[in-house]
Amino acid sequence: MTKTKIIEWLNKSASLLAERSELASLEARVILCHVLDKSREWLVTHPDFELDNLQIDQANQMIGRILIGEPLPYLVGKQAFFGLDFKVTPDVLIPRPETELLIEECITWLEEHPTKRKLADIGTGSGSIAITLADRFEDLQVTAIDISEKALNVARQNAELIKNKTQIEFIQNDLLENCSDRFDVIAANLPYIPSEKLKSLAVSRHEPILALDGGIDGLDLIKRLLQQSRNNLKPGGMIILEIEEGQSESVQNLVDKLLPGVEKSILIDLANHPRILKIMV
Ligand SMILES: C[S@@+](CC[C@H](N)C(=O)[O-])C[C@H]1O[C@@H](n2cnc3c(N)ncnc32)[C@H](O)[C@@H]1O
Repeated sequence: MTKTKIIEWLNKSASLLAERSELASLEARVILCHVLDKSREWLVTHPDFELDNLQIDQANQMIGRILIGEPLPYLVGKQAFFGLDFKVTPDVLIPRPETELLIEECITWLEEHPTKRKLADIGTGSGSIAITLADRFEDLQVTAIDISEKALNVARQNAELIKNKTQIEFIQNDLLENCSDRFDVIAANLPYIPSEKLKSLAVSRHEPILALDGGIDGLDLIKRLLQQSRNNLKPGGMIILEIEEGQSESVQNLVDKLLPGVEKSILIDLANHPRILKIMV
């Protein structure tokens, strides 16, 4: 039986993955850590450790699945977001670094408004926005809403793993439909990809369509949430929404139509793309 050392498997796998990923070496290491149930530090300090056949089979199978496009976070069952590890399954969108800009803005706003502590996260998915902010602000009361019960199950598990879940109420609902609560902050990363465009994107083959499809112009859900927010936002509150980079103008026109007179701004991410709509009432 030929033996394969960690370093040999890593080199071979990284060169296979390099055909489709700029993060090939990192991905290979993440896979092996998962299969061996070891930390990255352990992996780096044991390059000559010999893998057994079962470990090699498991790791090779994961490489095969990545090569056909399956996202690594679904294979290892987790994704880091804003310094926390979130459990992810194919029932939830994989949290993206783009959404960290929304978190940063919420943190700044909540620090500047210490008496405003009621926040809704609409379309919570894995719970990444709700839980990250609840983890940061002990006195924040969070309502996390999603239409998908399967997504809410994942979010509840994340709340238990990461944060005392009594601070967060999870509700299955269609946006804020029939909701009488009023919030200081309404935060959302809703589905915003136009339906036709989505069909051509690789993301639609693996992540939930319900988390991505924003209707003809991508703004169906954002438009409905803006309409509903008129009844659910407290005076002096903030609405903060992630948008697609091409939606900056159309989403501002929507605000002018649906919420005339409010103060609005678009925030630009590190890649210089307009990604966040912020509304102050
Ligand atoms: C783009 S994902 C965002 C997930 C998470 N907030 C994040 O940033 O990673 C959008 C989420 O909205 C949910 N959703 C879609 N339509 C909805 C609706 N009508 N009401 C409530 N949630 C909805 C989806 O199930 C999905 O979890």
